[in-house]
Amino acid sequence: MTTALSTVNRLDGVLPDIEVAALAPLMEEIEALKRQRNAVVLAHNYMTPDIYHGVSDLSGDSLALAQLAAETDADVIVMAGVHFMAETAKIVSPEKTVLIPDLEAGCSLADSITPADIAGLRERYPDAPVVTYVNTSAEVKAACDITCTSGNALRVIESLDSDRVIFVPDQYLGRWVAGQTEKEIILWQGSCEVHERFTASELRDYRTAYPGIQIIAHPECPTDVLEEADYVGSTAGMLNWVRTETPKRVVMVTECSMSDNVAVGSPDTEFIRPCNLCPYMKKITLEGIRDALRYMKHEVIVPDHIAQGARRAVDRMLALG
Ligand code: 13P
Ligand code: SF4
Repeated sequence: MTTALSTVNRLDGVLPDIEVAALAPLMEEIEALKRQRNAVVLAHNYMTPDIYHGVSDLSGDSLALAQLAAETDADVIVMAGVHFMAETAKIVSPEKTVLIPDLEAGCSLADSITPADIAGLRERYPDAPVVTYVNTSAEVKAACDITCTSGNALRVIESLDSDRVIFVPDQYLGRWVAGQTEKEIILWQGSCEVHERFTASELRDYRTAYPGIQIIAHPECPTDVLEEADYVGSTAGMLNWVRTETPKRVVMVTECSMSDNVAVGSPDTEFIRPCNLCPYMKKITLEGIRDALRYMKHEVIVPDHIAQGARRAVDRMLALG
């Protein structure tokens, strides 16, 4: 039973032994189904540790997941993340079967804008290219010029040959980038329901309660929260920052599971853990991943007429490296 040993080993030191033993049969089932289907599980950094450390084959931020989906040789991709991430995987790998374990794994940012809104913005600012954060539907991507993630938003905006750029839908990420470029940025008023709950005064309280603490934040947080932070970056940027800087104490101002996942490889860092859960990311469970592979559900389909435009916008981003 080499696989049983390997799955248990993956969770060594991640979860208590008793929990690992209880999860082992389910994890074994998932491993067997992955081999049977020639499937990979791609996991976003916000997945719970049982998924992230236990059954994922590849993991990362939204940018890495899009790149990995484009590169994998697997026939089937199970997206352990939210719906727009699965759609992006399908857009860049149309020949593969892309599954999302729960159709309710949505995103409040993605829900904040429609293609009609993009048409309205283009009418108002006809000369400005439209950059969309990947946290949008395929239809919205198809209506925009280029996508970006929190990891490359500045690079994408700087790559455009225009002094004025429309940025949708996250107002906070847009404002954060606007502070680093000479270009005029037209913002949309979308926000992430998880990150907008953090407050600057809460962070100041951490500095008082835990002297020397390092504060690192995701750019979807409100502007005054980002101003309090020692580092701002994508989920992959935050992970790398902790690994490189090895702070004595840190607070990751983002979704709860990030600290749980990063703490596993950072034994010398103390993590202070405010907990704002993303209810959409938390729809994804080991049972859901097992059922996705067992019943080949829920397949993500992007109609050709939408996929074509969306692929142009995503490929243009990926071409920047
Ligand atoms: P990252 O691209 O930084 O992983 O962010 C995705 C996301 O949805 C954060 O809320
Ligand atoms: Fe969307 Fe926010 Fe959840 Fe990320 S954390 S998936 S932006 S609702």
